[in-house]
Parts: sequence; C-alpha cells; structure tokens
Amino acid sequence: MSEAIRITRATAKKAKPKDSELAFGTVFTDHMFLADFQEEKGWYDPRIEPYGPLTLDPATAVFHYAQAIFEGLKAFRGGDGKVRLFRPQKHVERLNRSARRICIPELDPDFALRSLVELVKLERDWVPGSVGTSLYVRPTVIATEPFLGVRPARAYVYFVILSPVGAYYPEGMNPVKILVMEKYVRAVPGGVGEAKTGGNYAASLLPAEEAHAAGFTQVLYLDGVHRRLIEEVGTMNIMVRIGDEVITPPLAGTILAGVTRDSALALLREWGVAVSERQIGIDEVIAAARTGTLREVWGTGTAAVISPVGELSYRGERIVINDGRIGDLTGRLYQAIVDIQCARVPDTRGWTLEV
Ligand code: COI
Repeated sequence: MSEAIRITRATAKKAKPKDSELAFGTVFTDHMFLADFQEEKGWYDPRIEPYGPLTLDPATAVFHYAQAIFEGLKAFRGGDGKVRLFRPQKHVERLNRSARRICIPELDPDFALRSLVELVKLERDWVPGSVGTSLYVRPTVIATEPFLGVRPARAYVYFVILSPVGAYYPEGMNPVKILVMEKYVRAVPGGVGEAKTGGNYAASLLPAEEAHAAGFTQVLYLDGVHRRLIEEVGTMNIMVRIGDEVITPPLAGTILAGVTRDSALALLREWGVAVSERQIGIDEVIAAARTGTLREVWGTGTAAVISPVGELSYRGERIVINDGRIGDLTGRLYQAIVDIQCARVPDTRGWTLEV
C-alpha cells in the first residue's frame, strides 16, 4: 500500500511517567496507527489517530473465534539521543507468517515497516532513555467482520500501539524460578504453536496461575506428544548450557521463532560457542544437573530480553542452576544485546533501524 498516511494529532497530550516508574504494558502513548482491510479493497486508509478505544459489533469474529495475530518489538533511545527499532523487518516477516497460519491477509512488508517507523517517529518523545527501558511496539491484526460462521473474516483492522516499558518480570535481571509443566501443554505438531496469536496466550493463563500459586514466575512447557522434550516458556524461548554446548529447541512448528533467540544464537556463534538447535529432553537436563554439567539456563524474548533461570522444578525436584546466580554467558549475552539496541557499540549486523 503506497497510500499516504493520514495524521490526526491528539489535542491533549498525556503526562509521561518517570523512567523509574515504568512497568510492562500499563501506559500507552498519545497516538496509534490504523489501517483497514476489506476483501474488495485490500488494505486501505492508513492513518495515525489519537490513541483511543475501537468500537466493534458484539458479533465481530475476533471475539468469538480468536482470529487475531500480534507482534512485540522495541524502540530504544541510544546514548546519542537517537531512536532505533530493533530488527523490525524480522518482526514484520513473523507477523506475516502468523497471518498465513491464522488465515489473515498479509501486510505489504514495506508498508508494515513504514507504519512502525512513522508512528514511533511521531511519538519519539515517549521513548525512555534509562537503562532497562524502551518503547514497546505492539502491532496487531484482528478480524472485524460481524459474522458468526466459522470461516476467515472478510474485514480486518491492523493497529499499532506503543507503551513505554521497564523490565517484564518483577525480578528484573534477577534469576527466575520456573516450573517444568507436565500437566498442560502449549502446542502440538500441526497446531498453532509457532504463530503469535492470542489463543496461545489465553491457553497459558491457567498453567501460569497454578505455577504462580506454587511460587514460580513462569512455566517451561514440554512437547505435547511425549511430554518430555523441552519447548519454550510461553513468554520466552529457552536455552541451556551443558558443559561447553548451548542447546535450544529447534524451530519445528511448535515454538515461536523468537527474534531475541535468533540474535542470541548469532552472537554465540560469532563468539565461537558450540550451539545446537536440537531436541532435548527434560531427562537430559536433569541428568546434567545431577552430574554437575548443567552450567546455565536462560530465556530469550523481546519483552524478557535475556532472563536468567535460577531454578527449575520438575516432579517435585528442585534444580538450582549456577547457585541461583546469573551465569557468564547469560550476562554476556544480555550486555551484548542491550549494547547493540542502545547503540553503545556499532551495529555491524544491520539489526537496528534509526527512525
Ligand atoms: C514479547 O516478548 O514481546 C512477547 O510478545 C511476549 C509476551 C509479552 C506476550
């Protein structure tokens, strides 16, 4: 879509929170981006408007059959004051992959990228600059046709909202405790596990509530067939370091193709670390813990960045990792990624896009 973006500015501006008060996803900026889709027209009417409610008919398809996809990416303010998006093209590609699985019409990648850049540019004063803060960008597509039959809708809205954020977990960069979940699964082969669609997150709420009640921050899901292979945490991908090897589950359709996962793997390979994208059973992780070769476990995610795992609990057994402290590679990866995001080092990989 090459149509010009129509801009309607907010007349009243909201008060911006202090960087030190930022949590995750509680405050939204003054404007949002929108575009509509109708079968006869394709995507049309790209616009930036004051942030506000969407009015939808109660019969709207998304409310009933969850035909919806989203992305999560971040913009950072560098020490030079400039604002950069982190790997936005990769997020646009993934949005379109999710779209195909959920029967949502794809967005022209150049248009989608332009929507992110133009909105963040307009809201650049909202990008916080303190360590650990960023502007979280949430592109979303929902089916808007009011129709109760089960088939792909004929109308959609694409919107992008922005939220200044701090750390995702209340623990910040402190190691989190994770419950290895046997009772519930997140995805099965052939399902929607690799799509970033709201239903995956709705399905994760009960397991997470049960884990919280038992004193854990998150859940590590096992594969839906054998309940043995480690998969992902739901809000992040997982990596384990056993001896000198870093192992992470492969992208085989049941886990999200994390952008931070991809970035971490690229950095590890550049550093000469042995990396395997392969299936790994929880039994192998436990065996490594028992013999003392399980050195580090961490999660990777846009919201979570690099999140150290201090403890895994499986069938009532507590496995404390690296004495509950942040491991070497975990710390090094976190620092390397944040340094690239905030332009403290030159971006030699083309991962950042200045807006
Ligand atoms: C992200 O890391 O951006 C996510 O989307 C995970 C979660 C906050 C839903």
